[in-house]
Amino acid sequence: MAEQKSFSSSLGAIMAAVGSAVGLGNIWRFPYICGKYGGGAFILVYLCFVFLLGSVLMMSELVIGRRTQHTPIKAFHHLAPKHKAWGLVGLMGLVTSFFILSQYLVLSGWTTNYIWDSLTGTLASLGTDAGRISDHFSTFSTSGLRPIVFLVVFSLLGLVIILGGVQKGIENVSKVLMPVLVVLVLVLCVRSLTLPGAIEGVKYLFKPDFSLLTGEGILAALGQALFSLSVGMGVMIVYGSYIPTDDRLFKTAMWITASDTLIAILAGVAIFPAVFSCGFDPAGGPGLVYCVLPNVFNTMGGAGVVFSSIFFVLLMVAALTSAISLLEALTATIQAHTGMKRTWGAVVFFALTTLFGVLFSLSIGPLSHVKIAGNTLFDFVDKLNSIYLPPLSALGTIIFFGWFMKEDDIKDELSNHGTVSIGYYQLFRFLARYVAPIALVVVLVSGILG
Ligand code: PFF
Repeated sequence: MAEQKSFSSSLGAIMAAVGSAVGLGNIWRFPYICGKYGGGAFILVYLCFVFLLGSVLMMSELVIGRRTQHTPIKAFHHLAPKHKAWGLVGLMGLVTSFFILSQYLVLSGWTTNYIWDSLTGTLASLGTDAGRISDHFSTFSTSGLRPIVFLVVFSLLGLVIILGGVQKGIENVSKVLMPVLVVLVLVLCVRSLTLPGAIEGVKYLFKPDFSLLTGEGILAALGQALFSLSVGMGVMIVYGSYIPTDDRLFKTAMWITASDTLIAILAGVAIFPAVFSCGFDPAGGPGLVYCVLPNVFNTMGGAGVVFSSIFFVLLMVAALTSAISLLEALTATIQAHTGMKRTWGAVVFFALTTLFGVLFSLSIGPLSHVKIAGNTLFDFVDKLNSIYLPPLSALGTIIFFGWFMKEDDIKDELSNHGTVSIGYYQLFRFLARYVAPIALVVVLVSGILG
């Protein structure tokens, strides 16, 4: 059966791309770094970065993908046939996708396990003793086998969707799961906002306190904006190549950016009022979701099991539609370069990323003595994925786009061959040529000097 390598409609394209963007980054990472760097003030800075930089990168990648109809390396070769070295930018994006997916699988596996623990009453049985709840998390995450089993289950689910194809797999699943995700997050928001003392959490989120915002927080906001929008990894180049030709890329990029940001803020609304209502620390760090929230749910009595299950299902749904976009970028690329069948390409990268994921998972427990430059494998890949790779590959992409890609091609693609107006173009071009590269260099250098 010939396979359809495009999304069937604009709506399908938006759903799939929003599916990629909305993930653990929105529901696990955004709330905890927002808590760490001062709530409302962090959100304001984040909003500026998302709309002034993230959306510009998103549009650039979508333009490159749809213009060339290629996967990242070939896309750069196509646009700069005499300067094949640009292909390295595409390659770097794919290497980033590979490591992000491998690490993502570890956290997604934990999330899948927490659905199980919620449904079976294990989490509820821990009561409201913070020590027991965090012991449960550390015993589980360092235990070796159990996290791996759940990691493989999650990874297999992703594989099945990718094997379904671009329309029947990715697009259809996203069209169902995204509305489900919105309903789940809204249910949790209502619950959180109706708890006694919830208003303190709302104030924390929306009343900016700039004294809590540090330089480090500003850099974290930019890094989070890139990660959350799935840019700098070649994924949006691949999805761009699947977007229908009559689609307005500006509109699509704005929908994706706005929806992703809204879901991140709603996740904050679902979490902080509840955390404040129970008197917990909003700056709980990466353990906010796995150690603090179970305690919050356990204070709700019987209903806690329901809300805890809803929360972890929400987290897993978000993770799944993101993980498949990473697997798709890798699969489509190997297929394009080797002529390998899609099925085999998907299986190869499923196997490799799962294997690396297992290694990273073990490095938290039984293999914690294996170190690279003084870091466990998991911490090492975490640094690669947050400090070095994404800003570097985003920088390469935006420099190419802003300075080397033919302007006529860009305008032609954004205006659908001159049929729609592009009044925003001058501002967009300025951001792409100057503001985005400078901001990315600052992030990279300060990350490296860190
Ligand atoms: N944007 C996803 C999140 O916020 O969890 C993570 C991600 C997915 C990053 C796909 C990069 C990517 F290509």
